[in-house]
Amino acid sequence: MEQSEPAENCPAIRPRRFYDCTLNEKLLYSSFLLLVGIGYLMALVYLYTNFQYMDGKPGLSVEDIAENYYGNRSGTKLESALRSSMASHIDLQQRHHIIAWLKSGAPQSGYESTIKPILAQRCTACHSPASGLKIPDLSSYEAVKKVANVDTGVSLHSLMKVSHIHLFGIALVAFGIGLVFRFALLPAWFQHTLTLLPFVAIFSDISAWFLTKWDPIYAYTVVIAGALLGLSWGLQITISLYQIWLLRRRPAREG
Ligand code: HEC
Repeated sequence: MEQSEPAENCPAIRPRRFYDCTLNEKLLYSSFLLLVGIGYLMALVYLYTNFQYMDGKPGLSVEDIAENYYGNRSGTKLESALRSSMASHIDLQQRHHIIAWLKSGAPQSGYESTIKPILAQRCTACHSPASGLKIPDLSSYEAVKKVANVDTGVSLHSLMKVSHIHLFGIALVAFGIGLVFRFALLPAWFQHTLTLLPFVAIFSDISAWFLTKWDPIYAYTVVIAGALLGLSWGLQITISLYQIWLLRRRPAREG
């Protein structure tokens, strides 16, 4: 109950509350909060549809997050397909050739002499642009390379691109919501915590993207920080909207 409530003894500098705001301000704040809220929900739907199949299973899970940032380093996509869903298309000897080639780093020389003929015989009937199927193209070295690299998740370069955009963007939105939320009438400790929380959450979330590239366990931090961001924005927006339109009269305590 320090700073934000000098009210009792000094009414002249009592902090402004929503009930002090003009109708014009209230309209401005409410429209901003509503649009930002819708934007946040859109972002959630986008995240869900974008990431849910990362780990090959429907539904968004911590594994999806881990796979996005850390990748699936147990082998290449080509190897895991040869050992599972595509195993029936190839005989053991040929599979052995391809896996040995993958383990040796998938060089172009080996591709031309051994791999290309096998793929042409067994796979390209389906796996070529001509088939019209939306599956990996296996008809050229460059195309095969894409499923022949160990999957280490999203690159550091694109992480940096996405994270600076997120830091600027989310910080501004958090600032905007916080500017409105400061007019709420709440216990000071609660208001301070809720004001800080989105910033802490964004920072933890984005740091955890990088940490998850290093160790997939941090995918949990990504999820928890994301949830805290949602929770704190949700609270700031609903409390503000509630007080803007429903907390009409100044409580006696506030002078
Ligand atoms: C009869 C058509 C057909 C043939 C032949 C075939 N595939 Fe596939 N392949 C598919 C289809 C359909 C999918 C996508 C659905 C799935 O993953 O089962 C796929 C998916 C894949 C994937 C991607 C898996 C992933 O995780 O995204 C790889 C890699 C692959 N096939 C490799 C091969 C190789 C190597 C061969 C030859 C030994 C081969 N396929 C032969 C139809 C075929």
